[in-house]
Amino acid sequence: MGFVFIRFAKGPQASVAEIMAPFAEELRHYQSETMVPAGEIFTQKTPVNWKSVRDVDNEGYHVAMAHPALQDLYGQTYYDEPFVNGVCRSFATYNPHAGRRWSVRNYVRISQDNPRLPEHLKKAWIYYGLFPNCVIAVTPETVQFYQEFPISRNETMLRGAVYRYKDETREQEAARYLQMRIDRDTLSEDVQLTIWSNEAMASKSFGNFYLSDLEYGVRTHHDHLRRVLPVMTLEQAPEEKEVAVVNARMRLR
Ligand SMILES: [Fe+2]
Repeated sequence: MGFVFIRFAKGPQASVAEIMAPFAEELRHYQSETMVPAGEIFTQKTPVNWKSVRDVDNEGYHVAMAHPALQDLYGQTYYDEPFVNGVCRSFATYNPHAGRRWSVRNYVRISQDNPRLPEHLKKAWIYYGLFPNCVIAVTPETVQFYQEFPISRNETMLRGAVYRYKDETREQEAARYLQMRIDRDTLSEDVQLTIWSNEAMASKSFGNFYLSDLEYGVRTHHDHLRRVLPVMTLEQAPEEKEVAVVNARMRLR
């Protein structure tokens, strides 16, 4: 669908097309292969462990408390689905009564019907999580991706880009601008959450992960990680140079 994925070494995962197959029909409506870049690829370094970024992104219940613009936009409609076989999906539709925020009020007013989309997707903002570190997101105006790469134990590179329709109308362009403003606020709120999450794990009071029933997005992502990295289930971390060997041995069990 216009995206190119490169892996430098063979791994245990199936191809992206196979992993994303459950959502291929839905995604196909967006015709992302006909889109053009809406801007540059953005990158941003953040001073946290990669896992803190993914953990925050994998649960949606912080939206109501941490993302006032998204909450205004979505109302009660946002929900997460768990990771199953390497892929998950979070779905929201925007709320026609939204409007406490300037960007949201005007986005809802200006956003037009995308004739490519069936009824149930016309007002949808959807996020597809691709294990372990990638999200592809769609709105009526855009398709975007974002990923995180660990640089060191305490540093992560965020990377992403937005794509638009080549023949967009002035209204679609304006809606895309307003969406960018909403996403810009959301990103900086999320960066703060990941810093707190990272600090929490480093605290001497941190016992373990106690997840609520609403955090199955985090839980199922961790399950996927434990499957490929059983070494992370050990109480004590092995010496760094031993990690790969210990992990390989545990995978054989
Ligand atoms: Fe968030």
